[in-house]
Amino acid sequence: MDDDRHVSTLSRALRGLAALNLNALRVFLTSGPASAAQYVTYTHRMYTGFGLPWLWSGLPWRNDLTVPRIPVQQLFPEIDFTHSPALLHPFPRTLSTHPHELMILAHVVNSLKPKRVVEFGTAEGRTALNIALHLPEDGEVVTLDFPPIPGQNEVGFYYWDQPLKSKIKQIFDGVDTWDSTPYHASAEIVFCDACDQPQGLAAETAQAFKVVKPGGVIFRHDYSSAQGPTHFWNALAKELPVKHLEGTTLLCLRVQDQSTYDKMQKMAASGRVIPA
Ligand SMILES: C[S@@+](CC[C@H](N)C(=O)[O-])C[C@H]1O[C@@H](n2cnc3c(N)ncnc32)[C@H](O)[C@@H]1O
Repeated sequence: MDDDRHVSTLSRALRGLAALNLNALRVFLTSGPASAAQYVTYTHRMYTGFGLPWLWSGLPWRNDLTVPRIPVQQLFPEIDFTHSPALLHPFPRTLSTHPHELMILAHVVNSLKPKRVVEFGTAEGRTALNIALHLPEDGEVVTLDFPPIPGQNEVGFYYWDQPLKSKIKQIFDGVDTWDSTPYHASAEIVFCDACDQPQGLAAETAQAFKVVKPGGVIFRHDYSSAQGPTHFWNALAKELPVKHLEGTTLLCLRVQDQSTYDKMQKMAASGRVIPA
């Protein structure tokens, strides 16, 4: 789909230049180049609308959030969201789910009692661990990430020393190379949180469509807070009944009817999850 949205190095440099101001110079002189680069990055994000937690969906200059926004209760009327389920390591972590997003996922896991949840993008394993906490006795979470790079990242470390580890199946592979055949139509819940560029998003979404069961639910993280997933899923939502959960960066696709499921399978099989 929209490969033209891939941000080139030149484009990044121009956007960085556009975000330069006297404050950036002050940060450069007082705190050094790394801090100044970070300042420029955040300034740019603020002006594009991709860097203001809580407020970003309603910012007056945001006109790129086209997925219909609804309260979570409307999509899951059978769930009582007035209390919080138990969470492990609830404090926010960079690139991971917000605490209230974890709460939503935990509630949905409690309600659907899935035998299998598939997560794309394990990272530290905080979300996988919390999903495992709420699984039924015979449930498992299958979570996929690239093989760890020694000294650079520790994929899944939040669950390494947890008894709940027995419910977590770690797969080291890329979303585009993983052979998901044994998992087709087997997951009641799929949580997509790996990729942020069009090609990776297309591979991740095709895998999600293949592994979700009819009647299941797909979540996508980082809608409105990251540009790639936001634009990619804007396009998908023109074809499928995707909803943006109010006050969160979660998208949700409940696969409630056979025609939606069939359409998703057709899109996944054709290798083009985004229609022309
Ligand atoms: C945003 S983090 C995931 C956060 C995690 N789901 C959580 O809630 O804590 C994204 C992860 O996806 C992984 N990732 C990125 N591209 C991928 C790909 N093409 N295939 C598999 N994993 C990928 C990264 O290595 C990274 O660990």
